[in-house]
Amino acid sequence: MFTPLTADDLILKPGLLTGERILVTGGGTGIGRMIASGCAALGAKIFICGRRETVLEEAAQAINAVGPGTVSSIVCDIRSEDSINAMLDAIWADGGALTGLVNNAAGNFISRTEDLSVKGFEAIANIVFKGTFMVTLGCGKRWLAEGTSASVVSITARNAQNGGPFTAPSSMAKAAVENMSQTLAVEWGNRGIRFNTVSPGPFPTEGAHARLLPGRSASSEAEAGKSKVNPMGRVGKPSEMANLVAFLLAPGSQFVSGQSIAIDGAGHQAVAAPLWDQSKDWGDEQWRAVREGIRKTDSKDKAAR
Ligand code: HXC
Repeated sequence: MFTPLTADDLILKPGLLTGERILVTGGGTGIGRMIASGCAALGAKIFICGRRETVLEEAAQAINAVGPGTVSSIVCDIRSEDSINAMLDAIWADGGALTGLVNNAAGNFISRTEDLSVKGFEAIANIVFKGTFMVTLGCGKRWLAEGTSASVVSITARNAQNGGPFTAPSSMAKAAVENMSQTLAVEWGNRGIRFNTVSPGPFPTEGAHARLLPGRSASSEAEAGKSKVNPMGRVGKPSEMANLVAFLLAPGSQFVSGQSIAIDGAGHQAVAAPLWDQSKDWGDEQWRAVREGIRKTDSKDKAAR
């Protein structure tokens, strides 16, 4: 059940995004829908695109019922340059230039890398790597020609930095998107176009759960809100995702560019810290026993010096 966000759910001031025109790729479901909903709640005109018309229209209708911003949906497969250009022409014809782009659309599935075919690799890379670049290029060419300022936020993942076993195509593609963001933040910085990336931790969504965590239910995990493996012991909330991305899209954050921000309750630091995972649930008694054990080892070593 999708409940659109309202301005009361967010920390940013109501009306902050009034006058902004933002495209959220893959905005009909999951994290894209959280972002579309939050930005519309702050007054933006939102465009969402994806491959499934019914899904897009349901999301747009639900968000439009809450307002104050409005959502229009456009069917577009970002693996096709023609489909992207038709979408961008339609958006520009419907009220002018975009002021923001959220590269959210993605594809992923868990697989041993040795089981992948090249077509399987391409099914993901053509969305995440090539598709993200083509949408960014299509917008960028228009912005540069018109001299329009804009903010681009790309949704990536920490596996871009750390590697992603069993999700090699996605992990490799997300690393490329991080690089695109850093590259263009500099290259187009003096033209008022800025780039940042956001790496979500656990924000349960049906699309990702079905393909990455088979057998687990995103809706019940979102409802329960807990995560055993996260330092904060919980999953992320839609409003938290919307707050961060809306901030990066807002005019007041204009000097923030070229940054990669994780929103994961320090989850990626914990993954890099196996001792935290081992010790996080120890009580006083266990810490005392561990300390005694260590001191015994120290005494033995000292006696042999
Ligand atoms: C192995 C697979 C496969 C699987 C597809 N393929 N699924 N191989 N294991 N589970 C192979 C097929 O066999 C085929 O190759 C090729 O991929 C193309 O398959 P299609 O079904 O025709 O692909 P398509 O319809 O284009 O679907 C694209 C998709 C699909 C990426 C495979 O999952 C999709 O549309 N996903 C969009 C939504 C999504 O994935 N959301 C989750 C995002 S989560 P052959 O050689 O057999 O012809 C996310 C989080 C990032 O991004 C962070 C992660 C840590």
